Amino acid sequence: MKRQIPTVRGLAPLLRFRAPQLNTREHRLNAALTIWDLRDIAKRRTPKGPFEYTDGAAEAEVSLARARQAFEDIEFIPGILRDVSKVDMSSIVLGDRVALPFGIAPTGFTRMMHTEGEIAGATAAGSAGIPFALSTLGTTTIEDVKSANPNGRNWFQLYIWKDRDRSRALIERAAAAGYDTLLVTVDSPVAGARLRDVRNGLTIPPQLTLRTVVNSMSKWEWSFNFFTTEPLTFASFNNWSGTVGEFVDANFDPAVTFEDLALVKSQWPGKLVVKGVQSLDDAKRVAALGVDGIMLSNHGGRQLDRAPVPFHLLPHVVREVGRDVEVHVDTGIMSGADIVASIALGAKFTLVGRAYLYGLMSGGREGVDRVIEILAGQIARTMKLLGVSELAELTPSHVTQLQRLAPIPPDSVRES
Ligand SMILES: Cc1cc2nc3c(=O)[nH]c(=O)nc-3n(C[C@H](O)[C@H](O)[C@H](O)COP(=O)(O)O)c2cc1C
Repeated sequence: MKRQIPTVRGLAPLLRFRAPQLNTREHRLNAALTIWDLRDIAKRRTPKGPFEYTDGAAEAEVSLARARQAFEDIEFIPGILRDVSKVDMSSIVLGDRVALPFGIAPTGFTRMMHTEGEIAGATAAGSAGIPFALSTLGTTTIEDVKSANPNGRNWFQLYIWKDRDRSRALIERAAAAGYDTLLVTVDSPVAGARLRDVRNGLTIPPQLTLRTVVNSMSKWEWSFNFFTTEPLTFASFNNWSGTVGEFVDANFDPAVTFEDLALVKSQWPGKLVVKGVQSLDDAKRVAALGVDGIMLSNHGGRQLDRAPVPFHLLPHVVREVGRDVEVHVDTGIMSGADIVASIALGAKFTLVGRAYLYGLMSGGREGVDRVIEILAGQIARTMKLLGVSELAELTPSHVTQLQRLAPIPPDSVRES
């Protein structure tokens, strides 16, 4: 091997020193290539209580782990030699166009994760042309979300209160503010056991104990924002002091039945989606009520642990009721490829919860923009690699669900 002494002239073409980026937020967000990268940033920048409230699930967190695993345990079957120079990721969902096949899921206490909270989510969703869902436990009012996202699609998520007048009042406010869709969450007769929150002593609003103060000190930007902006206020109630679980159990009704759902339907003028359907039988019963959509969801694994994986239920529910209602799915989505797989198996739409919140915690509004950008890029790339240029071209033939987590049919259990 012949060696030589390196010269400046020889090295010059290789040198790529870039000017230091002054906008650290932009730099940080651009360095994140996946939702998992954003999660890492979020973890570094957010105190333990709020981060784990977001990141955690119920009991041993098996539901969430399985839901994520199910998306990984698929095989894509691509078509070759198709013209994919352009892809169209838009579709009609619940009567109106959406630019991308996912929206922002309703999440409670969002301003605790980052002070920009729902306003960041709603404005980012509005400018990307996707729906934003505000939770009953949201930290921005129905009217303020509407003013922040006046031309976009706003959806409202309802928990049915023990005091039915409060549910009715919220339905009326959301309708008056021009929300087009109501998501009625039905998977929470009681609060799931979020053990991380219990261990962290998380309360709403967060309490300043020696432990939380010490932990927040290293998350100076979060703390500065938290203490120098409006205190947490809520979309649907005045004030609360206690844990999330205590709030849910004290105010929401464990006695809700299908009759209540029918009543809500009669009160709501827009589209109605039932969120938290977890079996084929219930999907049929809900569809028979004449709702517009079914959201297959186990609440991101935050309610019943070891619940059915919504993505597994998807093709069965689509086959049985997909002609009558739109079938949507959430829980476990961490990449655009997960969304493409869901659409291929018949979902009309998907929601992302934690993915959005990891972005929010990483950088407020720009963090949410980055989430949408990452997911949209992954969806477009996956579609092109599959050889499809429109969502409608995605079919079950593009996805094989591998066996590892697939439920064993009850008949074969009985036979063995
Ligand atoms: C921090 C957090 C708060 C949530 N709060 C609500 C809520 O108030 N109402 C509701 O219907 N679902 C709520 N969810 C569930 C989401 O709407 C959605 O079903 C779930 O996050 C989807 O799973 P993913 O996080 O894996 O995307 C919450 C989820 C998270 C992570």
